[in-house]
Amino acid sequence: MASPATPTCTVTFQPLGKRARVADGTTLLEAARLAGVGLNGVCGGTGTCGTCRVHVVTGPVSPPTANETALRMEGLRLACETRLLGDAVVDVPPASMTAPQRAQVEGRERPVELAPGVRSYDLTLAPPTLDDLRADSHRLRHALQHVHGVQVQTLHPAVAGQLARMARAADWRIRAIVEGDEVLAVLPDAATPLGLAVDVGTTKLAGYLIDLASGETLAAAGAMNPQIAYGEDVMARITHAMADDVHPAELQRLLAAGIDHLCDELCAAADRDPSEVVEAVLVGNTCMHHLFLGLPVRSLGAAPYVPVLSEPCHLRAAESGLHLAPAARLHLLPVIAGFVGADHVAMILATGIHESTTVTLGLDIGTNTEIVLAAGGRLLSCSCASGPAFEGAHIRDGMRAAPGAIERVRLAAGAAGAPVLEYQTIEDAPPVGVCGSGVLDAVAQMLRAHILEPTGALRDGSHPRVRVTENGPEMVLARKGERDAPRDVAITRSDVNQLQLAKAAIRAGTQVLLERAGLAEDQIERVIVAGAFGTYLDVGSAIAIGMFPPVASARFQQVGNAAGMGARLCLLSEPHREAAQRVAAAVSYVELAGNPDFTDAYTSALMFPTAATED
Ligand code: FES
Repeated sequence: MASPATPTCTVTFQPLGKRARVADGTTLLEAARLAGVGLNGVCGGTGTCGTCRVHVVTGPVSPPTANETALRMEGLRLACETRLLGDAVVDVPPASMTAPQRAQVEGRERPVELAPGVRSYDLTLAPPTLDDLRADSHRLRHALQHVHGVQVQTLHPAVAGQLARMARAADWRIRAIVEGDEVLAVLPDAATPLGLAVDVGTTKLAGYLIDLASGETLAAAGAMNPQIAYGEDVMARITHAMADDVHPAELQRLLAAGIDHLCDELCAAADRDPSEVVEAVLVGNTCMHHLFLGLPVRSLGAAPYVPVLSEPCHLRAAESGLHLAPAARLHLLPVIAGFVGADHVAMILATGIHESTTVTLGLDIGTNTEIVLAAGGRLLSCSCASGPAFEGAHIRDGMRAAPGAIERVRLAAGAAGAPVLEYQTIEDAPPVGVCGSGVLDAVAQMLRAHILEPTGALRDGSHPRVRVTENGPEMVLARKGERDAPRDVAITRSDVNQLQLAKAAIRAGTQVLLERAGLAEDQIERVIVAGAFGTYLDVGSAIAIGMFPPVASARFQQVGNAAGMGARLCLLSEPHREAAQRVAAAVSYVELAGNPDFTDAYTSALMFPTAATED
């Protein structure tokens, strides 16, 4: 018989694909650590914080414990309380992963049948001789027609230049990349054509370098949108663009340079060259879309907020200042309205909300939050300004999700009566600030522990960590010196207020769409939450503060950067690009500006739900 320490079970953690061989009776949390899976564990594995939730897909495990019953697990299990009794497959939701690991799965890819617009043709050209004085371009056209039956009409001079260099360096063996009747690039004969998918956010750019032959994502990376120097939200950019005639071109150049830089970084990571990128798909909100195309944005800055152009755009990448393959094509998906852009179309496409047969709510949370409701064959969308609080901005000790940011907070029952504060920092580094998910958790926990009034006011003396300063009471999450913290990290009344503004906008937008569809909140069967912050937030905390409607947490799906994934789909499949047009045409846009229903819903959503403070 095997000794207790002998590994007898194999556990596989999805979607990371990591495995461990462990002894029977090992907890999933221990197994995850052995497998190198970064699972949250704010309480240190005592079964009280609920941050280590996982889904056991297959395999025998121990029955639910009293702690799990108390935490209402909705089909999930606490990894620290669940013991393996045999081989198992376990799915780790993004919200249960620590930040470094989450980055590995950001934007889960949906399988797609490859149908890119470009085709690759391998050719061995006849070298010129004194008896064969044809131009290089002629050799290429001739070979394409006679070897592959492909007739090309257009050969950009820059492609001819690339052909001349490439053919002579590679003994006249080349790969021609063709779209329609045009040669887009000439590559070495073994090189696969590359595609670039970019989600252009107001704050951040998310880029994906994709092998167009295999569909594989070779590299993914994020970068700041360099336009951030001219304001952190869309309105600030519009104001800047309108302040001087030279500003729009400046903003356009900055954005193109930022995308170029990101592409260089992606290519370096994949050991490829930007000149091999033959096609790109960009998605972004309507303001980013217009600024990138050099279109006027005045009409986006004032009612009735109409876009200048909503149709899909197809142009040469070089026309927009991108340095890709000489004749690389660039596609911008259609936009829906002044504040609902191509990123929303891409998100709907990637999540399949447009094909949903159940009442489905989709939220893409960012500085602006776009919301879509699919019900009864209709798609209703709106956009609300949710501000930068979720990025850690406008929060006194706020920071982006980087090492040292407090990302999870729990108040557990303490022996002395007052709840004990537990927190987790990104990479377990000394606490230096708090990021969006940490602020959300902290406020939800403060509500549950009666430290906060439903109005958002902190109650004096409600917890040993609440201290009174000249600006009013604040809740200290980390004290200077604790876990080597260089300074105190606290949540102030004003921080709580920032969160109230953001969550009220999201909830009110949701309510307006539901009212338009004649539905109540409890009729929502599925909630898809996209965007970096949306993917890693604790759904329970978001419900507790009233940001999300109080439907069962099992109905929520957190899907990562769905807009980026939609851009990837459109890069790999022309039918998806066509579907994007149908989605944009099918969406009924609901304007919230000046909408009295929204104003009423927003005002009442500013308060926190009293249920959160009633235990
Ligand atoms: Fe499992 Fe806290 S680590 S509940």
